[in-house]
Amino acid sequence: MDVISVATSPIEGQKPGTSGLRKQTRVFMEPGFLENFVQSIFDAVGGLQDKTLTLGGDGRYFNKRAIQTILKMAAANGAVRVLVGQNGILSTPAASAVIRARKTDGGLILSASHNPGGADGDFGLKYNIPAGGPAPESVTEAIHRRSLELTEYRIIETDDVDLSLCGEQQMDRMTVEVIDPVAIYAEVMRGLFDFDAICALIASGFALRFDAMHAVTGPYATAILEGELGAPVGSVMNGTPLPDFGGGHPDPNPVYAKELVDLMMSAEAPDFGAASDGDGDRNMIVGRGTYVTPSDSLAVLAANAHLAPGYKGGLSGVARSMPTSRAADRVAAKLGIAAFETPTGWKFFGNLLDAGKATLCGEESAGTGSDHVREKDGLWAVLLWLNIIAVRRESVADIMKAHWREYGRDYYSRHDYEGIDKEAAEAVTGELRRRLPELPGQRFAGLTVAAADDFAYEDPVDGSISRGQGLRLVFAENARTVLRLSGTGTVGATLRVYLERFEDDPAQMALDPQEALAPVIAAVEEITGLRTRIGRDAPDVRT
Ligand code: G1P
Ligand code: ZN
Repeated sequence: MDVISVATSPIEGQKPGTSGLRKQTRVFMEPGFLENFVQSIFDAVGGLQDKTLTLGGDGRYFNKRAIQTILKMAAANGAVRVLVGQNGILSTPAASAVIRARKTDGGLILSASHNPGGADGDFGLKYNIPAGGPAPESVTEAIHRRSLELTEYRIIETDDVDLSLCGEQQMDRMTVEVIDPVAIYAEVMRGLFDFDAICALIASGFALRFDAMHAVTGPYATAILEGELGAPVGSVMNGTPLPDFGGGHPDPNPVYAKELVDLMMSAEAPDFGAASDGDGDRNMIVGRGTYVTPSDSLAVLAANAHLAPGYKGGLSGVARSMPTSRAADRVAAKLGIAAFETPTGWKFFGNLLDAGKATLCGEESAGTGSDHVREKDGLWAVLLWLNIIAVRRESVADIMKAHWREYGRDYYSRHDYEGIDKEAAEAVTGELRRRLPELPGQRFAGLTVAAADDFAYEDPVDGSISRGQGLRLVFAENARTVLRLSGTGTVGATLRVYLERFEDDPAQMALDPQEALAPVIAAVEEITGLRTRIGRDAPDVRT
């Protein structure tokens, strides 16, 4: 079959960020946009000749069309085999599991994670390396460089493959293997968790609700929670993936998963609630009447992981992103294991996991995972929680109370100002960056700045240095704040303000987090005057 080389010219704005390239769907659908980016990836990784790839996405609008295009380009670029999830579906953690289990030469994942989907929403594409994780900066930079010099892309003209049929089909000389999107992932989960214990917990009347938010985890949660673990039909809500996620914003936090959180705070609440995001790598955990912050969840999982068979030998270390609260560090200290603080973005955990330095990783943005794959994994976190509860037979609320009694409580919240003017946002962070050296010793709203820096990270494995990863202010009163601009938004700028305060007085451990953090919130405002400067009275999202 003839390979067509289509003449093209570099397209602006194809710089992949922390999680690949994210753009409005309409931009991705512009003639040549997807093709240019895909060709840049293929070229940047040394071509596809005789290689195999994993391919799938979160089912959002344009997913299937993009997959057909990518298949035709992979064939034109000499790939021998592509594994595609049935109907184009693969959650991000499942894609990572497939890349690793089937040893493919990396994979392409189509998703804009928790960003809304649809023709008027967002689309995204990222390349994962053969170890299964997101491409490191050296690779994303090579992709970007290539995109600036591209003059043609290669594609073959042929019929679409039938993505609904599992099994092998030929596309010219390339084999397209349509796989069950759940099977390999479920196998990995069976190897880590005591499914019998969780079955017994559920059979004893323990009720759970999982909100798939009409995104990719629907089929995974239905097969595992209802199909294998015996949760009654209906335990998984919004379980059918829809191209526009039912019009929702598939981000599992108290704002966007309000239906579930309201249920969990009501008199009819089941014992356990959880949700996942667009591509299945994030998670939210809610007990009856108790919301668990992602930072606390990481700490609790680290303290109890040994109760699950896959972690019974203990953990080698725990890693968290810098803005994540320091709760996990306290657990690591008690366990006598290493604690790592990395920049925001899952790719920074890859080296630590590969080198066996860390077993569990987590981010405050609802991401938790372990060395079983090289992505964060929403359903994995849910299953680990269930395994822990199946052994401890305590409620989520009681587990949290006991944890805080033992380690103290890190009150935590993140305030997001979304879609703000980019220049105003950069002015706020730019000025604060310049003032960092003069802040230590100064008092704001009753708090004294003890240290202030722009976070830089030296990777302990490869020695690479990442600078400018967030403005960090530590207060002498056991509190901390971090300001950084989002790297994943597609419209304007998003300013994230991370707030935390440690409390070890048992009488002060049941406060409302926003109240407990009021002094830190006031100090940030006094230091930056940001609400006035960006013209907002309050954050758009508080998590
Ligand atoms: C956000 C989160 C970050 C996460 C990333 C991808 O990035 O804050 O923790 O790794 O999404 O899910 P941000 O928009 O802050 O750059
Ligand atoms: Zn995601």
